[in-house]
Amino acid sequence: MEKAQIGVVGMEVMGKNLALNIEDKGYKVAVFNRTGSKTERFIENEASGKNFIPSYKIEDFVNSLETPRKVWLMVKAGFGTDAMIGQISPYLSEGDIMIDGGNSHFKDTERREEELKKGGILYAGSGVSGGEEGARYGPCLMPGGASAAYDQLETIFKKVAAVADDGTVCVFYIGERGAGHFVKTTHNGIEYAIMESISEVYNVLKNALKMSPEEMRGVMAEWEDEKLGGYLMEITVDGLGIIDPDTGNPLIDLILDKAGQKGTGKWTSQSAADLGEPVPTIDAALSARFMSAKKEERVKASKLVHGPSETYDEDKDIIIKSLRDALYGSMIVSYAQGLALLRAASIEYDYKLDLKEIANIWKGGCIIRSKLLFPIVEAFERNPDLINLIFDPEFSKVIGDWGMQTNWRLAVKTALDLGIPVPALQASLTYVDSYRSAFLPANMIQLQRDIFGAHGFKRLDKEGDFHIPK
Ligand code: 6PG
Repeated sequence: MEKAQIGVVGMEVMGKNLALNIEDKGYKVAVFNRTGSKTERFIENEASGKNFIPSYKIEDFVNSLETPRKVWLMVKAGFGTDAMIGQISPYLSEGDIMIDGGNSHFKDTERREEELKKGGILYAGSGVSGGEEGARYGPCLMPGGASAAYDQLETIFKKVAAVADDGTVCVFYIGERGAGHFVKTTHNGIEYAIMESISEVYNVLKNALKMSPEEMRGVMAEWEDEKLGGYLMEITVDGLGIIDPDTGNPLIDLILDKAGQKGTGKWTSQSAADLGEPVPTIDAALSARFMSAKKEERVKASKLVHGPSETYDEDKDIIIKSLRDALYGSMIVSYAQGLALLRAASIEYDYKLDLKEIANIWKGGCIIRSKLLFPIVEAFERNPDLINLIFDPEFSKVIGDWGMQTNWRLAVKTALDLGIPVPALQASLTYVDSYRSAFLPANMIQLQRDIFGAHGFKRLDKEGDFHIPK
């Protein structure tokens, strides 16, 4: 029997869609799932009449692949991935390739690569973004790990990946070891930050301006047409228009306000803390999800501690414009923090990340694709060593623009005055204010540290290490 050119392990929706996508591009694809009935169902339904080889035993699956074998794992991150690698790797030979397309922690990826290297297996920890639709019709791929693996996968990856509006094929070899998964995790951190920023604007429109989902939809659709456009704005606008068939009410009004999470946002904040890189908007987005989960406590507290009235009675248009600018600013800052984190990681872990190329492939297929990524790429074209987006002359102009800044501050101030939490919009603004502060009050912290712990401090007027005079 003719062998398959690549195999996909994991027949949940992402694995199935990716397998269909690869097959569409002219490949014969082997498929395997731990629970065979899922493979069976796939072959009988979506894959019916297509070029697949199903297997129900790992040995058969491995034998159904051309050598060097290419095995693409799309299984649950964490234990599921380790278990599958443990089961498949004994059947693989030197030179075979394993791709992990799940949302793995970059340190797990590095550990797995080291292990597999002992048997000569090339491991490519690769970020895959774009959800179900992306997997099926074109994800953004962030492959990392063994570059020798990438060389052999490039053709398939390029056929499978999304194509951005400007023709960019959304795949690029990110770097060695865990680089691909580090970048994917950071992508998700930015995703959390933008989602939270949009949600906060929604909250103000809903509770201060008492706008209906349909009214908000109109406002946000206009923004989306402008420079705020992107996938997350698009699904927000579409989502606001969804009507619940059972009640006839907007679905958004019926969804419980407790956000779920699978861990990548938390990893971004944790990695940033490990690297000493400030990512306050991502942190705020993460904490906002934690806070949302405390629904029962929040309901109790809402009856106990009262704040100001949430309604805004003045000029609504001004606040709507202000919210637009606050959201725009917060989006810029979300990317700025994520990219600064990548820069820090690249230095610390020697990943040699090319931030321009990373921003470039994010232009299509992934969840954070947006119009903003186009000027971001231009910023890195102007200066490949850009330390922070804020230093780019175009972005510093946007953020420094008085009208824009005044609006951003007004949006945050108004929300604060009304007692509506806007932690991400506020964190983004504070990030800018902190970053542009030549002076920060850390001298006071140093003084305090020296008083209670004799930790010492540096002085502005003299070289050396000092303590408070005794
Ligand atoms: C993507 C998404 C994808 C997934 C998130 C959801 O890039 O396609 O980021 O990876 O939807 O992991 O994350 P949470 O469940 O943590 O929100």
